[in-house]
Amino acid sequence: MVTPILSTKRLSLRKMKVHDFKNLMEIFSDPEAMKYYPATKNGKQTNEWIKWTLDNYAKYNTGLWIVEDKTSGEFLGQCGIVPQEVDGVIEMGIGYLFARRVWGNGYATEAALACTNYGLQQLKFRKIVALIDVKNIPSIKVAERIGMKFKKTTIKWGKKVYVYSVSK
Ligand SMILES: CC(C)(COP(=O)(O)OP(=O)(O)OC[C@H]1O[C@@H](n2cnc3c(N)ncnc32)[C@H](O)[C@@H]1OP(=O)(O)O)[C@@H](O)C(=O)NCCC(=O)NCCS
Repeated sequence: MVTPILSTKRLSLRKMKVHDFKNLMEIFSDPEAMKYYPATKNGKQTNEWIKWTLDNYAKYNTGLWIVEDKTSGEFLGQCGIVPQEVDGVIEMGIGYLFARRVWGNGYATEAALACTNYGLQQLKFRKIVALIDVKNIPSIKVAERIGMKFKKTTIKWGKKVYVYSVSK
C-alpha cells in the first residue's frame, strides 16, 4: 500500500514511480490530450518526464503526482505543483493532465483544488500560478473553478499563455 500525498472525496494522489510509464503513455500518446503541448511524447520523452518529476520531489519537495480513483485505484491522470519560469521569475505552478476517457467528471478540478490548498497551506508557497495556452478552454475553466484569477498574458514555450494565480 503506497502512502498517499493527498486524498479528496473521490481521489487519491501519490508519488509518481518509474513503473507509471504505461499510465503516462496513455496521456502522452494521445494527440487530443497533447493538443496544447508541442507534440505527443514517445517512450524516451516519457522516461525523461518521470526523471524530471522525481528530481522535482528531491529538489523542491513537490512535483506532479499520480491521481487515482480512491476506491478502485484506477489511474486517472496527473496533477501537482511544479517550478515554472514566468518572465524571468521561478514560480510554483499547478499542472493537470488527465486521461481523455475520464474528462468531464470534475476530477481535474477536485485534484487541482486539493493540490493548490496543499501548496499554500502545507508547503507554504506564497502563491500558485497556472500557465495556460490561451486556446485551452477546459484548462482555463479548471483554473477559474479553483478560484484562480487572471493576472496577465505572456509568451512561454513560444506561444501566448495566460497567467492565472491564487495567493494565501
Ligand atoms: C485540462 C483538463 C484536465 C480538463 O479536464 P476536464 O475534465 O474538462 O475538467 P474537470 O475534471 O474539472 O471536469 C469539468 C467538467 O466536468 C463536469 N462535471 C461532471 N461531474 C462533475 C462533478 N462531480 N464535479 C465537478 N464537475 C463535474 C463539469 O460540469 C465540467 O464540464 P464542462 O467542461 O462542460 O464545463 C483536460 O482537458 C486535460 O487533461 N487536457 C489535456 C492536458 C492539458 O491540456 N492540461 C492543461 C495544461 S495547462
